Amino acid sequence: MKADVHKMTSEDIPGFYKILCQIIKEKILLMRSKDPVFSGVENFVKDCIRKNTSQFVAKVDGEIVGWCDIVPQPREEQCHIGKLGVGILPEFRKMGIGNILINKSLEHAQKMGIEVVFVETLEQNISAIELFKKYEFKVVGIKEKFRKTEHGFDNIIMLLRVLQH
Ligand SMILES: CC(C)(COP(=O)(O)OP(=O)(O)OC[C@H]1O[C@@H](n2cnc3c(N)ncnc32)[C@H](O)[C@@H]1OP(=O)(O)O)[C@@H](O)C(=O)NCCC(=O)NCCS
Repeated sequence: MKADVHKMTSEDIPGFYKILCQIIKEKILLMRSKDPVFSGVENFVKDCIRKNTSQFVAKVDGEIVGWCDIVPQPREEQCHIGKLGVGILPEFRKMGIGNILINKSLEHAQKMGIEVVFVETLEQNISAIELFKKYEFKVVGIKEKFRKTEHGFDNIIMLLRVLQH
């Protein structure tokens, strides 16, 4: 399968919003399980476009099937640090799309001066943890009982990679 990966543009916002809502429903992202407000997502993406933030989408047959972003932290003293987020629609996983998105996102983030990238994920999210370890992220911490759902507590793992400049 051929996925076309490119920087997110304002035309991609509705498609991105759609897959974000879909993946949020799986309750594997560290976001609340309700749909985010569209205007909030729209403003976030527009801000990323304005700042040339590392934010990529993958398309198959013209439809968005995944994204990856590395967003600089807002404080001046921490703007060298990027927080990574990634998600692929379930039916397009294990096809190498995560690999392409992470590669492009890390490359662009580095060009934009990001020196440290971190990501937080559920301890049981093995595919995500393996993906990040493949890209030389190291586990730097565990937040115990940091999510509580109807199924009980979940631990959250923080992984970090220092980029070489
Ligand atoms: C994690 C995720 C982004 C991986 O995307 P993907 O397109 O399936 O990944 P790829 O097919 O490109 O695989 C890349 C690497 O990820 C790891 N990986 C992916 N699926 C895996 C699985 N089921 N088990 C173990 N490792 C897995 C492997 O290291 C793989 O490398 P390999 O191809 O050399 O084996 C995808 O599973 C996903 O969207 N999950 C839901 C959202 C999420 O968990 N986001 C992360 C939290 S921010």
